[in-house]
Amino acid sequence: MTADTDTRGQVALRHLSKAFMLNGQPLPVLRNLSLDIRAGESLAIVGPSGCGKTTLLRLLAGLEQADSGQVLIDGRPIRGVGTERAVIYQEPRLLPWLTVLENVAFGLEVRGIGRGAAQDRARHHIRLVGLADFEGAYPRQLSGGMAQRVGIARALTVQPEILLLDEPLGALDAMTKLTMQEELTRIWAEEGVTMILVTHDLEEAIFLADRVLVLSRDQGVGPRLIDVDLPRPRDRSQQDFVAMRRQLMAEFGLH
Ligand SMILES: Nc1ncnc2c1ncn2[C@@H]1O[C@H](COP(=O)(O)OP(=O)(O)OP(=O)(O)O)[C@@H](O)[C@H]1O
Ligand SMILES: [Mg+2]
Repeated sequence: MTADTDTRGQVALRHLSKAFMLNGQPLPVLRNLSLDIRAGESLAIVGPSGCGKTTLLRLLAGLEQADSGQVLIDGRPIRGVGTERAVIYQEPRLLPWLTVLENVAFGLEVRGIGRGAAQDRARHHIRLVGLADFEGAYPRQLSGGMAQRVGIARALTVQPEILLLDEPLGALDAMTKLTMQEELTRIWAEEGVTMILVTHDLEEAIFLADRVLVLSRDQGVGPRLIDVDLPRPRDRSQQDFVAMRRQLMAEFGLH
């Protein structure tokens, strides 16, 4: 399969399995998981603590190796980490001695792009996340939400096809989180990236995703995929949205 510009960012999981050793016993975390994620799709991964969300994201990032099965990007099996993927964690992990601009440009500079060009590109993404007035600030001078936006700008600056996010808004207060969910949606649409987002917030999953992958800790219950067939921009108070949230909560036996 050859990749053209329309299909860049396709992800295919093929019979992916992963177990960890716990007290000398294998603990199966992912079992024979197969899934096709479209280029430009937004997929949310939800499930109870310990069900394997981070493990799956790390496999996609190439930070962890599967016991069997494959991850293919644009038809090609991945080998370790790759420049077409960028990872955003719960904590932005900024370098404290660098300014916002320097932090965002850093990823480009380590790839050999000259400082001037790197900073020009970084400025574009700093604007995109609404921090143009703060490019000279140091991480200690930022709020949690602002720091996380710098993390997002830094990930976008290297122009990945695929954004992998592990509870990126989990540490933010409720108000900031709502704003950031809207910003993430806008950035995803503007950049045309494939977005794969781990969250424990079911409403966030419905707000952001085209489909939700529900993982279970129970070995007898396989992963389920739920289509979020709601128009965008999404409205949390709209009847269909509320019904969708109820359906997803029911997946977890919640009411
Ligand atoms: N490096 C590791 N070594 C051993 N066991 C691990 C390792 N990483 C994860 N596990 C185990 O794999 C299971 C899944 O972990 P994972 O971090 O993927 O869960 P999660 O769904 O992200 O949970 P949470 O919502 O709490 O972040 C857990 O039982 C965990 O103990
Ligand atoms: Mg996790």
